[in-house]
Amino acid sequence: MSEEFISHDEYDAFRQFLEDASGIVLGDSKQYLVGSRLNRLMVQQKLKNFTELMQCLQTNRVNGLRERVIEAMTTNETMWFRDNYPFDALKEHVFPSFAKLKERPLRIWSSACSTGQEPYSISMAFEEYQLSNPGALSGGLDIIATDLSTEAIKIAQLGHYDASSMSRGIDDARRDRYFKQHETVWEIMPRIKERVTFRQLNLKDTYSLLGKFDVVFCRNVLIYFSMDLKSDILRRMSDTLNPNGFLLLGSSEVPNRYVSNFKMIRVTQGMLYQREN
Ligand SMILES: C[S@@+](CC[C@H](N)C(=O)[O-])C[C@H]1O[C@@H](n2cnc3c(N)ncnc32)[C@H](O)[C@@H]1O
Repeated sequence: MSEEFISHDEYDAFRQFLEDASGIVLGDSKQYLVGSRLNRLMVQQKLKNFTELMQCLQTNRVNGLRERVIEAMTTNETMWFRDNYPFDALKEHVFPSFAKLKERPLRIWSSACSTGQEPYSISMAFEEYQLSNPGALSGGLDIIATDLSTEAIKIAQLGHYDASSMSRGIDDARRDRYFKQHETVWEIMPRIKERVTFRQLNLKDTYSLLGKFDVVFCRNVLIYFSMDLKSDILRRMSDTLNPNGFLLLGSSEVPNRYVSNFKMIRVTQGMLYQREN
């Protein structure tokens, strides 16, 4: 399917559907992107054209189609230790500030975790911190990792990665320490995996069942949303943080554009945001 098969009206209706369901905002002329992302699904579902797809979406007559369309429109691009500095900042600033915590585990939320590289990198950084700081954070670490995409969550939960994922961001020493190799598949070690609980969650929905956190990662996902939704999400995320808790955003995001109760802390090459009250 290519761009000429999507009329303006259908494209507008599709954009509205996608934004309502996932928050993802499509630009004015991304018909080509939509066509290429949905092509395979349309062939599998034997849908003749985009008009038929839109009819199925609007009438909800094909079970699971809405979820599969949204799934196809998400960008799950990720890598191990993405941008490095958030993980250095954990070891040099965040973990030390909670070092004496022993009566409960430190709680971290990885809020758009994709296929698991972000929460597992956090778990590895924690192990490295504890090795050089014996006795610190003796209550342990609980990571709640959520994403809209059930397919991404399934991969993350399985914890098996191919050579292409393993070529992105993990050096040989970490690969040998944190993975077990089975021919062409690398399996994450149980002690790294055990700290992470995965669950599907749309950031548009309520966070009330997640509890309170000491650190929230919200990286490389707000870029897809409208200003109103970014501000709503950041306000509600800040409510999930304990006082003095930390927020880590993607390199192009600044929370104070949307919410005011964060103090900015410059660390190594990047920024951390700390809840002030
Ligand atoms: C580019 S990945 C970022 C992954 C990771 N945080 C990182 O920085 O490498 C964006 C992720 O956001 C997820 N996403 C998109 N819309 C979402 C929503 N409304 N709620 C939760 N996750 C969403 C996608 O499924 C995708 O896995």
